[in-house]
Amino acid sequence: MLGNFKYYNPTKLYFGKDAMDGLGIELSRYGKNVLLVYGGGSIKENGIYDRVVTALKQHGKNIFEDGGVMPNPTIEKLREGCERARKAQADFILAVGGGSVCDYAKALSVSVHCGEDAWQKYFIDFDEPTCEIVPVGCVLTMVGTGSEMNGGSVITNHQQKLKIGHVFGDNVFPKFSILNPEFTYSVPRYQMISGIYDIMSHILEQYFSGRDDNTSDYLMEGLLRSLIHSAEIAVKDPRDYEARSNIMWTATWALNTLVAKGKTTDWMVHMLGQAVAAHTDATHGMTLAAVSMAYYRYVLHYGLPKFARYAVNVWGVSPEGKTEEETALEGLDAMERWMKRIGLVMNLSELGANREMLDGIVQSTVIMTGGYKILDAQEIYRILEASL
Ligand code: NZQ
Ligand code: ZN
Repeated sequence: MLGNFKYYNPTKLYFGKDAMDGLGIELSRYGKNVLLVYGGGSIKENGIYDRVVTALKQHGKNIFEDGGVMPNPTIEKLREGCERARKAQADFILAVGGGSVCDYAKALSVSVHCGEDAWQKYFIDFDEPTCEIVPVGCVLTMVGTGSEMNGGSVITNHQQKLKIGHVFGDNVFPKFSILNPEFTYSVPRYQMISGIYDIMSHILEQYFSGRDDNTSDYLMEGLLRSLIHSAEIAVKDPRDYEARSNIMWTATWALNTLVAKGKTTDWMVHMLGQAVAAHTDATHGMTLAAVSMAYYRYVLHYGLPKFARYAVNVWGVSPEGKTEEETALEGLDAMERWMKRIGLVMNLSELGANREMLDGIVQSTVIMTGGYKILDAQEIYRILEASL
């Protein structure tokens, strides 16, 4: 049942080959001091940096740089960024990069004027910001997380072996995002595929919950079919604009709060993946791919009708003459074949995890309660073991 909810998404999107035209329009709405946040340097190689700096200069901005945001951004980097932003008296934060850069920019936006320890406040106590929030804009260069149109911010604390996401309210969403599919052409194949699976996982985490008849599920089945189709094209030809643009648009809608409406949502695959990353620093989407099949084959028995529906409506499995379980399992088999075909990492060993790490990974795993089965520590261990 859909129940009561508020729906509001404040992020303005500029999509397509001309999306950068929107940057100038938006920049004029904000103050002079812009903190330009980016990652390890890919934007300097593919020309995006030059285009952004030109736009900033044209609009008379004072540019302060905060580069070197790593994949899976750390709390240490966030603390350093706060110093820079304060020194710059930043009026605006412009994130140019993938999910890591965008997540980091959001964490920065609520930490610059916070006066408390950001890790403790936002990622342990899950407090909401009470300080001034520096507005953020995003030029997206890598597709997958949906960070361009949501309040999510995932930060890693290596010392505590924790990778935690805080989903902030709409006051922390990017004010605008520039989505030019061509900007993603230079993303390495491994990252592109990882991002594709991240999108799939976001949809499935929301889809595999609830037992009602819900519009959100129908929307998600459509998004999944588009993603599965476009992914096959993109891995063969990464410069296929149609496929890359469809994937980009699907990523945004997979995690911008729309399809979560009326859903309890699971997120257990993400909790497992984030725990793995806290111990290995592995690429986000790959950590999800490596644990997914073991997890879904385990929880399938607790949510059988939905898994059978998934098999039929998303993977085209015929239910004729089959039990619900047979249909459901065939759907997961089809999903696994697709995952292998597009080149995903299918086990944890390849990501640097080993049996000795499993107890620690179990301890780092946050247990969620919205899916078909609330796992205990032993079940988590067994799923991780089956994923090795
Ligand atoms: O750092 P640079 O040099 O930019 O290189 C990056 C990085 O090495 C590279 N890249 C990005 N755009 C490129 C490019 N290389 C060439 N050309 C381009 N156009 O790709 C690598 C990965 O980038 P990253 O931003 O780390 O990837 P992604 O977008 O997958 O973000 C991952 C982070 O987002 C979090 C993850 O946990 C992880 O920390 N997530 C955020 C979510 C949210 N905000 O809602 C939800 C997700 O579930 C996820 O947890
Ligand atoms: Zn994700």
